[in-house]
Parts: sequence; structure tokens; C-alpha cells
Amino acid sequence: MRSHYCGAVNTEHLETEVTFCGWAHRRRDHGGVIFVDLRDHTGLVQVVFDPDRAEVFARAEQVRNEFVLKIVGRVRSRPEGTVNPDMPTGEVEVLGLELEILNRADTPPFQLDDNDVSEENRLRHRYIDLRRPIMQDRLRMRAQVTSELRRFLDAQQFIEIETPTLTRATPEGARDYLVPSRTHPGSFFALPQSPQLFKQLLMMSGMDRYYQIARCFRDEDLRADRQPEFSQLDIEMSFIDESTIMNMTESMVRNLFAKVLDVKLPDEFPHMSYAEAMRDYGSDKPDLRIPLKLTELSDLMANVEFKVFSEPAKNDDGRVAALHVPGGGKLSRKEIDVYTEFVSRYGAKGLAYIKCNEVAKGREGLQSPIIKFFPDDVLAAIVERTGAADGDLIFFGADKATVVADALGALRVQVGQDMGMVADEWRPLWVVDFPMFEWDEGGKRWHALHHPFTAPSAESLDEWLKQLDENPGNVLSRAYDMVLNGTELGGGSIRIHSTDMQQKALDVLGIGEEEARDKFGFLLDALKYGAPPHGGIAFGLDRLIMLMSGATSIRDVMAFPKTQSASCLLTSAPSEVSDQQMKELHLRPRQRPQPE
Ligand code: AMO
Ligand code: AMP
Repeated sequence: MRSHYCGAVNTEHLETEVTFCGWAHRRRDHGGVIFVDLRDHTGLVQVVFDPDRAEVFARAEQVRNEFVLKIVGRVRSRPEGTVNPDMPTGEVEVLGLELEILNRADTPPFQLDDNDVSEENRLRHRYIDLRRPIMQDRLRMRAQVTSELRRFLDAQQFIEIETPTLTRATPEGARDYLVPSRTHPGSFFALPQSPQLFKQLLMMSGMDRYYQIARCFRDEDLRADRQPEFSQLDIEMSFIDESTIMNMTESMVRNLFAKVLDVKLPDEFPHMSYAEAMRDYGSDKPDLRIPLKLTELSDLMANVEFKVFSEPAKNDDGRVAALHVPGGGKLSRKEIDVYTEFVSRYGAKGLAYIKCNEVAKGREGLQSPIIKFFPDDVLAAIVERTGAADGDLIFFGADKATVVADALGALRVQVGQDMGMVADEWRPLWVVDFPMFEWDEGGKRWHALHHPFTAPSAESLDEWLKQLDENPGNVLSRAYDMVLNGTELGGGSIRIHSTDMQQKALDVLGIGEEEARDKFGFLLDALKYGAPPHGGIAFGLDRLIMLMSGATSIRDVMAFPKTQSASCLLTSAPSEVSDQQMKELHLRPRQRPQPE
């Protein structure tokens, strides 16, 4: 139907006849002449309709925004003074010779170039939202990313294998989405939270190197970087250790950034232990673009008069730490109050601070409601350890270590952003040496920090059992996360490949033999028939593309995402189903939803 794309015409085409198809981006009447900016996926071109050509002009008068048009015209130079240097086709325009209205359009619910449209409105009319060039660019980048990733892995002898969507629960820490079975009354499939168990089985089948762009489903609290349904680049390899998979995926990501963004990532991503990340950044996904660090003060505070500090300092699971903010002395009382409210969302009970007016003067040069509690030597040590100078500010957190890390870790990022300290760069790293188990105070039990199939760091089963006897909380695992600019891009581990060890790991998690057989009997059996050492990783594809495209939410890099409350505004899913369907599925609602 067309000879050229709208965005592709330029001075090379002068005086030739062209045929375009696209949407009327905007129609303007200018003193008897009609201008239509015609848009397709490549861009815009300006078409001019002259009243001298009465028939085509009359048709152009009917055109409204978002009409679908086929236009035949002649390319010509724009008159002097009307060249638009911001437009790739801005040196030319097209004189309209023929115009066919392929389809009419109602007035769209929003203008495509309006940047203040609510997300609700955009999601409800996603097909229109996706016409916007920025959304087109993001989805095209997404396709380019998956294509590069596939090319890279194919060249490394990986094979792409699909795993089932109707399956059993895989424990990745979220709630499952369930699908009732018609043929097995009272039974349910679970949609996979990840292909974890299947990819391990594929290693046991001798597939050696597997990958899949896999759809995963997790019913959890949603955020800007979490969707109920998302995609992983899922990878598994046999006969490898962590260095093989980390080096391989590091090259993959480096190659991807070079090809798609023309960005050179560092030759080697630094490795940081989980302990160091929590100590210095209060996060297991530190944003290294922000040059702020936490300072440990627990040892200094055990004997101070201020109970708010001395109690956590003396407690095994407590912590006192500081966040030194260069230039923070200029923060107003009100701004500090806002930060105090901010950290309270992470459980902090307050946010003590010291303003450093003139550090050389000692106590006299410091300003704070809490310095009265500290002897001179403690004050001097705080200033020395944090490296605070005149004009700086020091924030304090004192609480359970987890609360201090969460609160000061988040504060570090917030203050860094507010004070314009985020460097314009890419800072990838690996976080390693994760604890294997985490104590869940609410449930009074251990739970796996990664997942229950992750191998321990211990050299042997005996050594591991010894470590477990001492304190499961100190046992480290062979897990690794790739982090980029404060986002966890991917996580993986070397897996357990012995039945005994797997059984023991499930034991520690309080999953008894019977429950283990019921849930993962197939895996435990497979481990018995010659399971090779293996390991893998999964990258959050949506998150990766969000970072690469500069979007602030993964919803902006998905064609049809769900809202924060896990619904689809376009199709109104989830929805009620008919009584007949319920009956076939052997279901009866416990409570009929009340009409709104
Ligand atoms: P994990 O649970 O860490 O590991 O998930 C891997 C990566 O998937 C992304 N991700 C998400 N992205 C969008 N929305 C979500 N709700 C969401 N949840 C996770 C993150 C994360 O790093 N089976 C293991 C991998 C392995 O061990 O090989 C797994 O799923 O970027
Ligand atoms: P108060 O004695 O409760 O008035 O607290 C004195 C200062 O300590 C105030 O600035 C509080 O915000 C701060 N503060 C109170 N509890 C904590 C805490 N757990 N961690 C850090 N600062 C705190």
C-alpha cells in the first residue's frame, strides 16, 4: 500500500512521488492551506493540501486527529524559514495529490503529545498510548535486547527450551497464582514463580546449557519494579562453578550494552560480599553511583548515656550507624523532619543528627540535641570515623540491625538523589556470600534467602552440618546477584546436587520429609539418578530494559502491564465467571462479591 515510511523521506526524494500510510498526528488549517502531520512507526512527515486541488482538499478538510490515511504526494523543499531542524524530515514537505481515508477515528481520549496523561487513562487505552513514539522506542528496544541476548547465548551453545506454565508451586517466596483443574475436582495448577525446578531437571537430563525467556507469575505486593506477571531470562549450566556463570553472564550484559546503547561497561564487575553491602550501604543492592556510605558506630555507643543508642549497641542483633552527608549542614529543620518521616516508613523510631559547623572547635562547633549525651572522646571519634568536615551533617540510626540498614540504606539513596549526588554512569557489581538462611521472627522459623535449592559454601556435607549445628544464621550460600545502579538485575546460585544435602536443607526450613516428598518428590527422585553439579541465574528482563531505556517503571517497558493492584484496566481482568464455568471447575465462591 505504501512506497515509503513517513520518517524516511528527506532531500534525496525531492520531486519524486511517494505513497505513505499512517495516522493523522495533527491537522492544522493555515489560511486556506491544510497541513497534516502524518505519523507511522518511523516518525512524522508534513503533508500540505492546496485549495487549488479542490477534490483532495475537500477530503483533507474531513481529516481529524488519528484518522488512518493513505496519501500520495510529491516531495518538495520546505519554503525558506519553515525548515524544522528538530524533525528528521524537517527539510522537506509533501504536496498532497491523492488522499484516501482508510479509517475514521473518534476523538482520542488523550492527545499523543500530552505528557501529563494519567497512567490510568494510558493503561485503559493502551493501544493509543503505545502509538506514542517513546513507547514505540521502548518496545523496539525490548525486541532488540531479547534478540541480542538470544544471539549471544545461541553462539555459546545454549539451547532454548520451554517449560510448562500449568505446573506445581515453585517456592520463590511469593504467593502462587492458581488455576483450578476441571478434570481433577478440587485440584489446582500453580503458575510458575520461575522455571527453577524444571531447569534443574533439564541439567539432570544432560541438556548441558539451557536458557529461556520465561514468563513468571508472583502474587506479591507490587511496586515500580515488580509486576505479577514478568519475564526472566532464565539460564542454567552443568559442570560449572560460580566463576563460569558469572563471567559468562557478565560478558553477555557487557555485549548487550555495547550493542544496544553503545555503552562500555567496566571490564570486570566488582564483587562485594553481602556483609559489606549491608554494612556500608544498608542494602543488598547498593547504588554505587551515590558516593555516600554508612559508618559503623555500635562499638562506640555501648556505654553512652543515651539509652536509645546504648541498648541497640549492646544487643547482638542491634546496630548504631551513621550516614555522613557532605554539605548537609544547609538542610533546614523542616527538611530534616521530612527525612525523619521518611525513615519511619522503614521502621526507624527517630532520626538523630549532628550539624558540623566548625569541627576544629570540638563540642562547641557541633550542633545537635543529642551531643549532650556523648563524652568528648566519643564525639571526636564520630567526627573522625565519618570524616565529617565543616558544613556537613551526620544522621544516626539506632535499632535492630535490619531496621538500621533498611532506614539508613533508603535514606542514603533519597538524600543522594535530593542533593544531586547521583553520578551519571553505569555501576554494575556482583553481590556474593549471601547467608543461606534468614530468621523469620513472625513465623518463628528459618527461611531460604535465595531458594531452598541453593548450595551452601561449605566444602563438604560434614562441614556444613557442623556449621548448621553452630548457627544456621551464619551459614553462607553459593548465591550471587548482579546489581546495576541500585536495582537487582538478576540472581542465581550453584545448586545442591545431592539428595542428602537437599533433604537437610529442606529440614532446616522446617519442611518435613512428608511435605518435601509431596511438594518436590520429583526433584528428590531425580537427584538420585545421576544429577550433575550445576548452577544458573535468572535476570529480570523487564527491569533490565527499564534501566536501559531510562524508564522509571517496568510498566513502561511492557506492552500490556497490570496496575499496582494487579488488574488489567484494558481488558478488566480479573473478572467474574459464569456459574456454569464455576460449576465445571467444581468451585463455589465463599462469598459473592458485593456489587460496587
Ligand atoms: P529471583 O527470584 O531472584 O530468582 O528472580 C530473578 C530476577 O527476576 C526479577 N524479578 C522480577 N521482575 C519483575 N517483577 C517481579 N515481581 C519480579 N520478581 C523477580 C528480578 C530478579 O533478580 N529461580 C531463581 C533464579 C535462579 O536461581 O536461577 C529466581 O527466580 O530482577
Ligand atoms: P528523643 O530523646 O526521643 O527526643 O530523641 C532525640 C533525638 O534522637 C531525636 O532527633 C530523635 O529523632 C532521635 N532518635 C530517637 N530514636 C532514634 C533511633 N532509634 N535512631 C536514631 N535516632 C533516634
